[in-house]
Amino acid sequence: MKSIMINRYGGPEVISILDRPIPKPLSNEVLVKVAAAGINSADWHFMRGDPFVLRLAMGMKKPRIKGLGADLAGTVVEVGDDVHDLKIGDTVFGDLSNCGFGAFADFVAAPATSFLPTNDTLPLEHWAAVPMASVTALKGLKLVAKIQKGEKLLVNGASGGVGSFAVQIAKVLGAHVTAVCSKEKMPMFNSALVDELIDYKKTKLLDLENRYDVIFDAAAFQPPFAYEKLLLPKGRYVLVGGDFTKQIKVIMMGGIRNLLSDKKFLSYLSMPDRGLLQEIIQWINEGKIKPNIDTIFPMSSASEALQRMHDRNVRGKILLQN
Ligand SMILES: NC(=O)c1ccc[n+]([C@@H]2O[C@H](COP(=O)([O-])OP(=O)(O)OC[C@H]3O[C@@H](n4cnc5c(N)ncnc54)[C@H](OP(=O)(O)O)[C@@H]3O)[C@@H](O)[C@H]2O)c1
Repeated sequence: MKSIMINRYGGPEVISILDRPIPKPLSNEVLVKVAAAGINSADWHFMRGDPFVLRLAMGMKKPRIKGLGADLAGTVVEVGDDVHDLKIGDTVFGDLSNCGFGAFADFVAAPATSFLPTNDTLPLEHWAAVPMASVTALKGLKLVAKIQKGEKLLVNGASGGVGSFAVQIAKVLGAHVTAVCSKEKMPMFNSALVDELIDYKKTKLLDLENRYDVIFDAAAFQPPFAYEKLLLPKGRYVLVGGDFTKQIKVIMMGGIRNLLSDKKFLSYLSMPDRGLLQEIIQWINEGKIKPNIDTIFPMSSASEALQRMHDRNVRGKILLQN
């Protein structure tokens, strides 16, 4: 089978397509024939070994885990002896980021608990765009920001994988949503989806006169504490991603600031979460949210696809299809 792998850290040039034996599932695992894999910023970061702190887990000089890719959708073709809730022929999707990655491949063997069944609400391939980005968005809004119905929310980085889910989820949760993105990506959003839309090149965020209960920052490239003036009393600034040094600032200094103010600065690391993903599935089934699919590349074009995401040409999510 084909597998998209890296042997060293670097740009897309370090990616190679290798022939590997089809893995044999362990007793708690299923073997899944991959229909499509979803690309996330995490794949870029793991490929680059950047931020450097990632290498503590992934290998200092070269990556210990060589198979790229977390999100996938596909069909179960073999089940381990102890797996009882999935069977051959089931279509499933999931996020392998806590069980070894390797989704950019023809087949993966992974614990059955990494997967949930798909249904016909979306084409099978599109389910691969869902797990990591939607769970990150839901966790940030519901568990970290604890957003309430009617609260005013600003989503920065709204056109990206996480941001495009955050906007939709926030609407389902009853928030008043202001989305921030580049002018070219504004057509992604209509008035049913967002209440206000800001082109950050035209309007400097830090000059805004409006105030928000929650700022969900998936493109944190400004000094995070400068957003304090945009927060309403009891407001929460949630740093999801962007410049890693900004995230470190919030992690290191947010705690002390939070003790002294009713405005909170928070950051978090999202992990695969079946409970949150079940909520997402429910909303997808009800037609309330869906992944924004930007482009579908063949699996063999993983380098090109990763470069496209890094170049900020993406509206929502990119898929790699087998
Ligand atoms: N905390 C967690 O557990 C967690 C989980 C998943 C992802 N993340 C992080 O969250 C961030 C967003 O993830 P994503 O998958 O949504 O990424 P993405 O799809 O690449 O989207 C990021 C968006 O940010 C906007 N942006 C604004 N200024 C930017 C700049 N200077 N450089 C790059 N992009 C800029 C871009 O939209 P415009 O072109 O409209 O400006 C882009 O679409 C990433 O940093 C990722 O690593 C964190």
